[in-house]
Amino acid sequence: MRVRVLGAGIIGLACADELLRRGHDVEVVDPAPGSGASYAAAGMLAPAGELWHGEADLFRLGRASADLWPAYAARLGVPLAASGTVLAAADAGDLQEVDRQLELLAAAGERAQALGRRELAAREPGLGRVVGGAFLPEDHSVDPRSVVRALLARVPVMAVASGAPADATVIATGAHLPSPWADLVRPVRGEVIRLRSTGAGQAPLHTVRGLVHGMPVYVVPRAGSDEIVVGATSEEHDTPPVPTVEGVFRLLESARILLPALDRAEVVEVTARDRPGTRDNLPLVGRVPSSPTSDDTWLAAGHFRHGVLLAPITAQLLADGLEGAAPDPAVDPSRFARQEASA
Ligand code: GLY
Repeated sequence: MRVRVLGAGIIGLACADELLRRGHDVEVVDPAPGSGASYAAAGMLAPAGELWHGEADLFRLGRASADLWPAYAARLGVPLAASGTVLAAADAGDLQEVDRQLELLAAAGERAQALGRRELAAREPGLGRVVGGAFLPEDHSVDPRSVVRALLARVPVMAVASGAPADATVIATGAHLPSPWADLVRPVRGEVIRLRSTGAGQAPLHTVRGLVHGMPVYVVPRAGSDEIVVGATSEEHDTPPVPTVEGVFRLLESARILLPALDRAEVVEVTARDRPGTRDNLPLVGRVPSSPTSDDTWLAAGHFRHGVLLAPITAQLLADGLEGAAPDPAVDPSRFARQEASA
């Protein structure tokens, strides 16, 4: 097949790479490859840390994709930080949330270990005043920018489409889908801060996900580098995604309560991008419900907080679908139309 992929973020590139590997002819079009949500992403592969009530399908896909990641990263030549994730609670209310998360994880059959204050300090010595938490041994991370670079080395990208006819078009343009599908995703702004460690003890040993008086924050040390990523705000909006004083202040304030040694790290970059949120927080992977063109049009979009985690499984599902496999109903873009028809 000749397939045109619109969008060279991590999802579009992963789909294109998979299609190329399967012997298809692929053209990727993006005037600014890798500059959307993939550019801001911290790269947590966190099916456990990002598990919420009522999201069993998202957890199923996230767990399956997390299991693909070690081989995926190895094939791309990108390091995967496999030291797990520490959950930390700053006060008793935050600890209740951690306990709820542990209950959810137990029900899902995911490994997680509750930790008291002392056990937490032994595992992550840089933690400040926290009352307790947990360890998630299977929530890891990668550097999304390295992944995008590795994919761009395999997948040629053009700034504008060639005009040659394609058997199928895959729309992977993140938070901003073209008409008539624009309403299937909504932008959810995330602000992210990149720091540089300037000395020993500033970077945590694990990814640290904290709740600090109700404010969620994560701190991701980059394997093999001095980068530390602090994220992320989450705000629904319809203005351009720019970092705000409030967002940056709240993130840094929470991060330095969790990890006081971050005070000595250098601030390198502050980024804001739109996450592509859907109505049910599940991505849209499959043939579109209807297309105004004669093209066979597909979506690989709407990955909300999970684009990096879900990239390998999205690429497989999309390529399987193009090759004739039945859609996974959980991510089928037609699911909303079906739900409305049966309501
Ligand atoms: N996956 C983390 C975030 O979207 O902030």
